[in-house]
Amino acid sequence: PQGTRYEAEHATISQGTVESDHAGHSGTGFVNYDNLIGSYVEFTVTAASAGTATLAFRFANGTTANRPMDIAVNGSAVAAGKAFNGTGAWTTWQTTTVSAQLDAGPNTVRATATTAGGGPNLDYLEVTA
Ligand code: GCU
Repeated sequence: PQGTRYEAEHATISQGTVESDHAGHSGTGFVNYDNLIGSYVEFTVTAASAGTATLAFRFANGTTANRPMDIAVNGSAVAAGKAFNGTGAWTTWQTTTVSAQLDAGPNTVRATATTAGGGPNLDYLEVTA
């Protein structure tokens, strides 16, 4: 089935800024996480029914250092220290996926930086039931 895309620039952002200076992003921009532990982006995603979904995060990391993040759904960790490795350039966007259980109706999906580098630049979350 077709996934539903949630742009990071429309999500709830804690300690990050919406920017658009690196080409190739979807929508009107992306989130540049502040370079610190605990910065996060939280999406509200709506599922038609309860069940397993694939959460695809599109990101860029122009450094050579991993920018790991904890992924939590409805406040519970589903992937601790998920790797967001260097993509080669800030204009090179890649997707990494996590599988998670969603409830019917609204769910929160939060991606929180766990190292001092902060998160990568985050473009969107795409959810496929
Ligand atoms: C650069 C880059 C930003 C990025 C930042 C970082 O400033 O232009 O888009 O977010 O590095 O290291 O997080």
